[in-house]
Amino acid sequence: MPRRPSISSFRAFSLDSSAPEALHRQLYEELRRAILSGRLAPGSRLPASREFASVSRISRNTVLTAYSQLLAEGYIESRAGSGTFVARAIPEIMVPETPQGPPEVSADSPGSRALSRRGTVISETPILRHPLRTVANAFRPGLPALDHFPMDIWRRLYDRRLRRASIRLLSYDDPQGYLPLREAIAAHLAASRGARCGPEHVVIVNGSQHGTDLSARVLLDRGDEVWFEEPGYFAARALFRSHSAVPVPVPVDSDGLVVTAGIERAPNARLVYTTPSHQNPLGVTLTLARRVALTKWAEEAGAWILEDDNASEYRYHGRPLAALQGIDPSNRVVYVGTFSKVMFSALRVGYVVAPTDLVPALVQARVLTDRQTPGLSQAVIADFMNEGHFARHLRRMRTLYAERLAALLRAVREHASDVLEVHEGEGGMSRVAWLPPGLDDVEVGAEVARAGIQCLPLAEYCSVPCERGGLILGFTGVDEAEIGTGIQRIAGCVRAVQARVQAPV
Ligand SMILES: Cc1ncc(COP(=O)(O)O)c(C=O)c1O
Repeated sequence: MPRRPSISSFRAFSLDSSAPEALHRQLYEELRRAILSGRLAPGSRLPASREFASVSRISRNTVLTAYSQLLAEGYIESRAGSGTFVARAIPEIMVPETPQGPPEVSADSPGSRALSRRGTVISETPILRHPLRTVANAFRPGLPALDHFPMDIWRRLYDRRLRRASIRLLSYDDPQGYLPLREAIAAHLAASRGARCGPEHVVIVNGSQHGTDLSARVLLDRGDEVWFEEPGYFAARALFRSHSAVPVPVPVDSDGLVVTAGIERAPNARLVYTTPSHQNPLGVTLTLARRVALTKWAEEAGAWILEDDNASEYRYHGRPLAALQGIDPSNRVVYVGTFSKVMFSALRVGYVVAPTDLVPALVQARVLTDRQTPGLSQAVIADFMNEGHFARHLRRMRTLYAERLAALLRAVREHASDVLEVHEGEGGMSRVAWLPPGLDDVEVGAEVARAGIQCLPLAEYCSVPCERGGLILGFTGVDEAEIGTGIQRIAGCVRAVQARVQAPV
């Protein structure tokens, strides 16, 4: 059991109220350094905020803000009724290999080796507290059925383009993207998502994360607030943090993002990040009334809405709602889409659909960072779409995924109804498997990972502790047999953790 550090050791933290860095930021840095260096041992208890504030002669709010940042990043844990503790398992990516002392640097290396402030923020922004392995297996969220991708057709189209490759495809080309592909995307979005756009509004990017990054570059300044769905997609939250923007958690209920709560918490936000067609991870659809309220507020507040329409093509029940982009009267929506889920994730091609006045800035950001998406991939995707393969593949995958979802629900009913609760939902590629109330999803997730199964605890999507634990199960990349055995194994893990927690001490 780690010793409780004496309160006087916290008095030694050197906070400077005349420094440009805010006090809560200084305190956060000091505590983080102490945790990473081992000065504050894993599991040791931190003073209560009031006590800390009083011995350090700072405001309690300063302590609470520093604690909440450390909590969000996984350095500390709060246990209901018992206090705040240094996390027992600091994410591996954050722990330096040599915790004692600085690494060796050759004496003749010139100048400072320190990262810039910006570089430090980027390198220290974790995406996941407990990263997934790169190999794909059940139930990794967000993976399509890669083994069902029509590789023979893809190979044929690629070969044909290679044989006839024009010099243009091998050269630097339009950084906004290959025109026939932009035309195909605009037509697809108009027909399937009710988007109002032409090829001139489409910018081809390397996946939707890249589209979100470019949008953040041109729309956000350091310190700008961003409404962020709580729970919400962790990689987008980390991205905004890496731009020194401030994601403000806005709750999600069965009608989607709670717009009134956003207005209350951050009335001056500059951007709203939302996944309205299939909220990631809860899977709810933003209702029409909320869509109208959101676009109305954005117009009045002069804020932008970043609509991440990831996986919107997959809907198994209920009527799809048109994209926000298509109903926004004030043209303040930046729409981000991707081929990662409808073709394959390593393709790294996506698109941004932007209002006319934003397009030049986005294209310039694109040119400055990585110039363009590979021409050959763009041309082959355009062929894949224009020759009907895309629509056919999508139709087949919708049927397959609906079957896999049914298999998941069946497996839970037959093997895990005492420990998992999974709702049918309307679309998407993953489901929340709710745990029995009181069970810690990080602990269950670790047990499940030890059993060789990948999934993410809901806590990874939360910036404040969630009321009930859950596991996010991607079902689209897993065949029916594996779904059955996987659910049985997860159920075994949940029961094991439950038995441990309930065992008398
Ligand atoms: C909501 C959401 N946005 C973006 C992404 C990333 O997509 P891409 O591979 O296109 O960068 C994901 C991936 O799972 C996602 O779930």
